[in-house]
Parts: sequence; C-alpha cells; structure tokens
Amino acid sequence: MKVLVVGGGGREHTLVWKLAQSPRISQIFCAPGNAGTASIATNLAIADGNIPDLLKFARENEIGLTVVGPEVPLVEGIVDSFETQGLRIFGPNARAAILEGSKVFTKELLYKYAIPTAEYHRFTEASKALEYLAHNTTYPIVIKADGLAAGKGVLISLSREEAQQGVKEMLEDKVFGNAGDEIIIEEFMTGPELSMLCFVDAHTAVPMVSAKDYKRIGEGDTGLNTGGMGAISPNPLYDEELEQFCLQNIIEPTLEGMRQEGRPFKGILYCGIMLTEGGPKVLEYNVRFGDPETQVILPRLETDLLDIFEAVVDDRLSEIDIKWDDDAAATVVLASRGYPEAYPKGLPISGLDEVVSSVVFHAGTSAGEGEVITSGGRVLNVTTRAHTVPEALSLSYRNSELIQFDGKTIRKDIGS
Ligand code: AMP
Ligand code: GLY
Repeated sequence: MKVLVVGGGGREHTLVWKLAQSPRISQIFCAPGNAGTASIATNLAIADGNIPDLLKFARENEIGLTVVGPEVPLVEGIVDSFETQGLRIFGPNARAAILEGSKVFTKELLYKYAIPTAEYHRFTEASKALEYLAHNTTYPIVIKADGLAAGKGVLISLSREEAQQGVKEMLEDKVFGNAGDEIIIEEFMTGPELSMLCFVDAHTAVPMVSAKDYKRIGEGDTGLNTGGMGAISPNPLYDEELEQFCLQNIIEPTLEGMRQEGRPFKGILYCGIMLTEGGPKVLEYNVRFGDPETQVILPRLETDLLDIFEAVVDDRLSEIDIKWDDDAAATVVLASRGYPEAYPKGLPISGLDEVVSSVVFHAGTSAGEGEVITSGGRVLNVTTRAHTVPEALSLSYRNSELIQFDGKTIRKDIGS
C-alpha cells in the first residue's frame, strides 16, 4: 500500500518512521515533510493546508491511506473532501474536529454532558467582557480565543489590568483574526497536567501509553508557552486507576455526547487534563496526535500502526490487540534562538551523524545544498527509548550536545 502523511513537523517524522516499519507499506509520501522525512519517504511540495492538491495527488497516485498530522486541515474538512471522493483517510471529519476548532463548542458540550472542566463565560463584545472583569476579584484568570491560534490563543492573566488588555487584544485588535471573534473567560485551575491520547472509532476508545509534555520555554515552567519543549513517557502521575477514571468520566461521556450531537468522532482524541484538588478536569481537546508527545509514544508501540489506523477507519478497533513496550521514552527539543517568538532560519546543522542510541526526529529542518538547515522554531527532537525515563533522558541530553547550530536552545529540566 502507498500511504500519504500530511504535515511536516516532528510528529509527522515520527508517524512516517513508525509507518515505515509496516511490512504492508510499499511507499510513503509526506506533504510537505522535512529533511528527516526525506530520508524514509518521498516529500511532496504541497502545503499541509492545501486540500485540493493533496486530494488530487492521492487520487492520481492510488494512495491507499492518508494520515493527517495537524489540526488545521482536519478542522477545514480534509476528511470530508477525501471521503466524498471515496478515498481512505484517517482522522475526524469537520463536524467532529470542532472539538479542537471551537473552544466555545467544547465548553458547551462539556457542561451539557456534565464532564468536569473549569467554569467559564463566553463573550463576543469587549464591553460585556470588560464589565465582567470589573466585578471579578479572583486572579489569575484565563482568557481563550474560540478558534485555532497555533497554540497561542490562551492567556493566563495575573491581574485585572492584564485581563482587560487580553480582552481588548482579542476582541478589538483582532490579534488572532476571526479565531478571536468570540472568547472564553475561564476559571484558573492548578495542578499537574496530563496528556491523554486515545485511538477512537465509532464504538471504542483505546488509550495509548501516557506522556507528559513540557510546554513552557523556560526551565522550572517559566516564560512563554510553546508547542512543547520535550516529553517523557510514561507520565509518572499516571496509573491504571487514573486512566479508568478519565476514560469513564471524561473520554467516554465526551464521545457519547458527540454521538448524541450527531458529530460522531473517530481518529485520535487528545485530552489535555489538569489534576486539580477537585479531581481531573478537562483543559482542552485536540483532534490529532500531540507534538512532541507522539515522539515518545509511538517508539513504545509494538503493534503495526497501519493495522490500527485501518481498524479505526473500518470501525473494528475492538478487534485489534494493541501492544506497548514496557520501556520508557524521552525526547528533548532543540529549538531556534528566540522561539516561540521570532527566530532566524536557514542556519546549518552539524553533528547529526554523530548521534548513537537516540533517534533524531526532525521538526523545523529542510535540505539545504548538501546540508541540513533550520527552517522552524522547534528544529529537532532527540528521542531515546530505554528501561527508565532517567536513562532515556540522559542519552537524549548527551546526544543533544553533539548536534550544533547557531542559537540552539534546550530546556535542561525535561523529566523533572
Ligand atoms: P490549552 O491550549 O487550552 O490546553 O491551554 C494551554 C495551556 O494553558 C494548558 O496546557 C495549561 O497549562 C494552561 N491552561 C489552560 N486553561 C487553563 C486553566 N483554566 N487554568 C490553568 N491553566 C490553564
Ligand atoms: N504538545 C501539545 C500539542 O500537541 O498540542
């Protein structure tokens, strides 16, 4: 079978790497891919949001399955477009991808079906939001743009002044464009975070092994939010009891709610959960694999990933026995200087060949003239599987030292 992977980050390199282990796959294409995917797949010069060209390529090249990495094409209906043309594709359709595409939709769903989450109010008018803040005395408070904002649409405001400014930026200055036409002002919760990812078909949700993502740029969880600066698996806070609790009280009722709303979900459901004193509560849903969580989850998967994807597409996930390795995994992100704000591109990367005992998943890289160059904020994910998280981390850090590019930025406290 020929497979097309849509996307070009560390998550997609990991998907391509795992799918390449399937004996049933003859060729993998990646659109647009990066310098890492180029070594195991054929990169296509098609952007991951260009649904018409992706569809045309899949049709003309007899692609047996398309796998979508990022959220934007899912929310914009890539699955609907492919299915209308009779093409097989893994992921939720647009009606179901709204779980990530609209935070307002998701909060309303969570409340309607009594699923634990932070209290919230929704606003489309700045004056009403500001009036609400004028009477609110509890800070910090959380302000979220309704739509997709590349992971930047969440503000934690420490004071009324900060919150007022956030409201104005979103609703009046439109810093997130239409994604900020409506906002949520939400109760600030505290506690450790958990990313829970599940394979989901029409009948079944099967959780993957757990992971923990390190979202802030700075050590000790300080500074700006990023896409994620590293990850470990398993998450030390996770156990069977917590998994069952989250499945029964969060995941299953959400999927049942989606069915009742006429929006059955299939694909990957990623639930961001905060373990508060009042129990686990939903922070957000994503409708795709996490990045960099995928980089530590898929190396632990023993089952053929193509078998799982096809079982989901055909709604026979319960027939598959999904096996995981007992080992641990860790990934350390090598980022560009300045990320998550402005950063340089096109810088040469050296030392990739010196890495042993780790796998380097590429994120923001491209092939320059005879060399690999930086092309994104998160550049590389140095990933290791070992018996324990500390062993995996120590190898990832050691190998990270061997790779050089100007401005290389690493969080030294992944796993702590
Ligand atoms: P989200 O994209 O909604 O997961 O938000 C990004 C990050 O902001 C989360 O991973 C949390 O660290 C933080 N966050 C979001 N909502 C809340 C909340 N209600 N209370 C505290 N932190 C939050
Ligand atoms: N690592 C967070 C995300 O993928 O959204």
